[in-house]
Amino acid sequence: MAVSLSPSLVKLSIFSLFVIVLVRVVGASRFDELFQPTWAPDHFSYEGEQLNMKLDNYSGAGFGSKSKYMFGKTTIQIQLVEGDSAGTVTAFYMSSDGPNHNEFDFEFLGNTTGEPYLVQTNIYVNGVGNREQRLGLWFDPTKDFHSYSILWNQRQVVFMVDETPIRVFTNKEKQGVAFPRDQAMGVYSSIWNADDWATQGGRVKTDWTHAPFVASYKGFDINSCECPVSVTADENVRRCSAGDKGYWWDHPVMSELSLHQSHQLMWVRANHLVYDYCTDSSRFPLPPPECNHHQSKG
Ligand SMILES: *[C@@H]1O[C@H](CO)[C@@H](O)[C@H](O)[C@H]1NC(C)=O
Ligand SMILES: *[C@@H]1O[C@H](CO)[C@@H](O)[C@H](O)[C@H]1NC(C)=O
Repeated sequence: MAVSLSPSLVKLSIFSLFVIVLVRVVGASRFDELFQPTWAPDHFSYEGEQLNMKLDNYSGAGFGSKSKYMFGKTTIQIQLVEGDSAGTVTAFYMSSDGPNHNEFDFEFLGNTTGEPYLVQTNIYVNGVGNREQRLGLWFDPTKDFHSYSILWNQRQVVFMVDETPIRVFTNKEKQGVAFPRDQAMGVYSSIWNADDWATQGGRVKTDWTHAPFVASYKGFDINSCECPVSVTADENVRRCSAGDKGYWWDHPVMSELSLHQSHQLMWVRANHLVYDYCTDSSRFPLPPPECNHHQSKG
């Protein structure tokens, strides 16, 4: 079948092809398209698409996104410090600015050689945190890259490890619990010395003869509503919250875990949870309001 294309159509097709390629590249984005070092750039090294960030006795290191975002899903693949990582903390988190900030944290607490890392998660809403949970992992996070994600929409915030939900913070505004949905957040990671608390309650100190402590990153992916600084905060919230725009994260199926995901979360909590603020009656004689009887989604 012979098809004659008009020159303008050819130009259009070439243009669409270019756009498709461009979008793909952004999708599989490289570190420096989305992020920049924010602390100790001399502690960064690059191997192709892989970024290595080190902690030594001079400094830790950190990076942050160039832009701020609302909702969607942010994923980074991380390989944590191998061998002796006692005293070190590697964090991957999202945070807004200011005293009433919101924050979603993954903190990876190092350990002595052969002993397991712990993952601490926390959620700040309007400047208030104190919502720590800790769990062990079902794999050794220092041997390979694993993906760590934060899914965020107006109904829930879900922390995921290799797509398995490990924690859900459900919107309970109807029960008077504040939910983060009015502030754009940056995406951050850092590695630092926290040997005053991180490992076995601070009893095991960082052994600097084992420095540098290196965490590696790749697969940076931010699939979310970008909030340009040129646009007012209110306007960004309006744009990014408009369900009628058809953002995928506002689709009804994203408003809660699927049945399969609920089962995964129950399995994680039953087998790997080591601490949950919701059940810490010495800290909270009255359980915090978001910790209702449905603990598996606390
Ligand atoms: C850091 O460690 C190196 C090697 O162990 C040592 O030579 C150096 O003096 C230390 N620097 C500081 C600031 O402690
Ligand atoms: C380190 O290993 C010890 C012993 O297995 C364990 O009790 C602890 O929870 C692990 N993690 C941290 C961060 O201390």
